[in-house]
Amino acid sequence: MIRACHDRIRIHCHSLERLGTYLEFIGCNESAQRASGDIIRFFDIAVRHHFADEEQSLLPVLLEIGKKARVPLDKAMGALQSDHLELNQTWSGLRANLQKISTGQFMHLDFLEISHLNKKYHDCLIQEETRILPFAQHYLHRRQLDELRAAMIARRAIR
Ligand SMILES: [Fe+2]
Repeated sequence: MIRACHDRIRIHCHSLERLGTYLEFIGCNESAQRASGDIIRFFDIAVRHHFADEEQSLLPVLLEIGKKARVPLDKAMGALQSDHLELNQTWSGLRANLQKISTGQFMHLDFLEISHLNKKYHDCLIQEETRILPFAQHYLHRRQLDELRAAMIARRAIR
């Protein structure tokens, strides 16, 4: 579920980049408005859930396992949390303009901001996929995986 979400994040980062170019060359038509709304919904809802999955469900379990297995994970976990914070801050800057685009007011997207967000996501996802997820795959038991999955599903059921 976490890897699938990473793939969707990559797709939406790419959509954001494409939207920036589209606005420059074609303008803020209906397609741009729709794309903008889709991007906002994804980062507001799916990414918020994803960060919560990692910070509230996965990390506490892994930290506990790390302590018992004497594998120091605190640094990697701290880095992940500060990455999430920075990603949220960069996203808020872009979101305001995307909101205007979604309602038809023409607005340029800042390519530097987009590329900063995309690069930060790229680096953060690689870190998680090379450091945290292999550890989780190695140490988590079937029962723990089922509990994590159930917590993620429950999180998405709350409106
Ligand atoms: Fe992640």
